[in-house]
Amino acid sequence: MNENKQALDLTIIGAGMIVNDLLLPAALQMRREGVIGHITVVDMRSSAVAALRDSESIKRCFPDQSFDTCPAPGEPDSTDPELYKKVLAKQKPYQMVIIALPDQLHYPVLKGVLEFNQHVLCVKPLVLKYDQAMEIEKEARERGCFVGVEYHKRFDRRNLIARKTCREGLFGEFALGEARLLEPYYYRHSNFQNWFTCENTDPFVYVGCHYVDLVCFITGLKPVEITVSGRKGNFPNGKEAYMWTNGRVIFENGAILSVNNGLGYPNEAGGGNDQGLIMYFEGDDRSGLLDHDDHVRGVEHCYTVKCDKSFAYINPDFMREVPYPGPGLKPIGYGVDSVTASLTMAQEIECRVAADPANALAIRQAAIREVNEKGLIATPENSSYNELVQEAARLSITNGGALAEIDYSGEKPVVRLKK
Ligand SMILES: NC(=O)c1ccc[n+]([C@@H]2O[C@H](COP(=O)([O-])OP(=O)(O)OC[C@H]3O[C@@H](n4cnc5c(N)ncnc54)[C@H](O)[C@@H]3O)[C@@H](O)[C@H]2O)c1
Repeated sequence: MNENKQALDLTIIGAGMIVNDLLLPAALQMRREGVIGHITVVDMRSSAVAALRDSESIKRCFPDQSFDTCPAPGEPDSTDPELYKKVLAKQKPYQMVIIALPDQLHYPVLKGVLEFNQHVLCVKPLVLKYDQAMEIEKEARERGCFVGVEYHKRFDRRNLIARKTCREGLFGEFALGEARLLEPYYYRHSNFQNWFTCENTDPFVYVGCHYVDLVCFITGLKPVEITVSGRKGNFPNGKEAYMWTNGRVIFENGAILSVNNGLGYPNEAGGGNDQGLIMYFEGDDRSGLLDHDDHVRGVEHCYTVKCDKSFAYINPDFMREVPYPGPGLKPIGYGVDSVTASLTMAQEIECRVAADPANALAIRQAAIREVNEKGLIATPENSSYNELVQEAARLSITNGGALAEIDYSGEKPVVRLKK
């Protein structure tokens, strides 16, 4: 073990679904492995952090681990949207922060966290606008703070294999593709009713972005034209939302990707959702194919005991808690790998700094450049096409599916409706 390798303290901002399902278990596993030290989870709602403290699955998985919360047990809700700053005021600089808040809060909270000179992992989407992504990139670089964006599909082994194979030229040139990600119908009865409305978002922006990011990640191609059509419906509380979307993304080489998304995978169906990607390529007088069934991954279970789903397609790849030689259970899967990649990168950066503290800023900035150029972990710079796609998609869907374009020819890319 390198003696310069010290565990980083971690603050998680937000204690919602994704923290319970993925981020906290991944962080607790990193604590076991000496990457992370002290963990604090902060949320304005005391009931949210209490749910994490009381979580049976976290207790079962991590009987040997602990974390603090803000508010602490017995304390009331907070009305302060900057409560996290009270926690960060006590955290040393160049430790780690995970941001897991609703999309529209990422930008102000990223700005607030960077004031404390912290390395950051932010859930997708980093921010809602390209200009905001560039602003965050600049400020983080100047401060020597590493910022990773949690696009976990990148760490699914099948996608890592696809990227390597595509970049070796084995598939040929991407020509036509089809992606789908349909979340369960029951989402319509959740907290989505309060924010997933027409003026804020739509299924393409919410989950279609994963597969658009993936096609860019695999091929290295830039998206240049986007059209998204939506079918509206009403939530049980009466609010109107785009429940289904069909998007079409044209890439710089003319390749076409069709993307279907929705809040409509039947609750009674076998999977957790429906998802997959098919890509066709052209070579020398022949064609190539990549076909990922991300929905039925080859594992089916049927239980004799009554539970939510007595028959289910099991996804062994994203996040599962499994027996291992140590205490409790161990979270495994590409969701965990994705979180681990950013946390260990921040630790590695601080290890290099500890070996040569006089050159701290230059070392941190060189490492940030390295991660950005490698292109594996999404960064504000290397994944900024996602903010461009998001802006173009919103422009299109709110104009009845009109064609929007991304023009990269100027000093900075511009998104507009195509004449
Ligand atoms: N596949 C993925 O990559 C994936 C999956 C799920 C969610 N997400 C993203 O994660 C983010 C959070 O999603 P979620 O489903 O966990 O949402 P959620 O609504 O379950 O949780 C958000 C939490 O943030 C808290 N909060 C709001 N404002 C706060 C503030 N100022 N300070 C502290 N806490 C505050 C709320 O009380 C809530 O507990 C979203 O950006 C979402 O897009 C990504």
